[in-house]
Amino acid sequence: MKKSVLILGLVAFFFASCGETKKEEIKKEVETPVEAAKEEIKTTDDYLALGKELFTSKTCVTCHQPDVKVIGPSIKDINKKYTETNGNIVAFLKGETPAIVDTDPGQVAIMKANLDGFVKNLTSEELAALAVYMNSIK
Ligand code: HEC
Repeated sequence: MKKSVLILGLVAFFFASCGETKKEEIKKEVETPVEAAKEEIKTTDDYLALGKELFTSKTCVTCHQPDVKVIGPSIKDINKKYTETNGNIVAFLKGETPAIVDTDPGQVAIMKANLDGFVKNLTSEELAALAVYMNSIK
C-alpha cells in the first residue's frame, strides 16, 4: 500500500513537472518513502489501509477483536458506545477524554498503560487512521 501511494506520488510528480527531469527531487522522494507516503495520504481509503496496518503492527489487535471481547472490549462494542455518545476515539487515544466503554479501574489501567507507553508516540494522522479503521468495523 505504501508502495502504491509512493508510485501515485511519483506519477503525480511527473505530471506536475511536465516531463522536466528533476533527478534530485525524485531521488529524495525515493530515499524517504515513509515520509513521502505520509504526505500523500489523503483519501478515506488511505486512512483505512493505514489504520488497518497500524491496528495490527501496534498490537491493538491482540486485545481488540472485531466481535468478541478478548482482553479489551470488541471493536464493535467500542464503536457502539462511541456512536451512542457521539464520542471521539482520537481524543481518548490522546488521553484527552476518559474511558467510556469499560470503566472498571483494572481494565482502564491496562489501556492507560498503552496510551502512556506507545500510543502517545503516534502522530495525529496515525491516530485518526486507527479511528477510521475501527469505525469501519460494522
Ligand atoms: C494489552 C491490551 C490492550 C492493547 C494492546 C490495546 N488495548 Fe485498547 N483497551 C484495552 C482494555 C482492557 C480496554 C478497556 C478499558 C477502557 O475502556 O479504557 C481498552 C479500551 C480501548 C478503547 C475504548 C476506550 C473507552 O472509551 O473506554 C479504545 C478506543 C481502544 N482501547 C483502542 C485501542 C487501540 C487503538 C490500541 C492500539 C494502539 C489498543 N486499544 C491497544 C486493552 C488493550
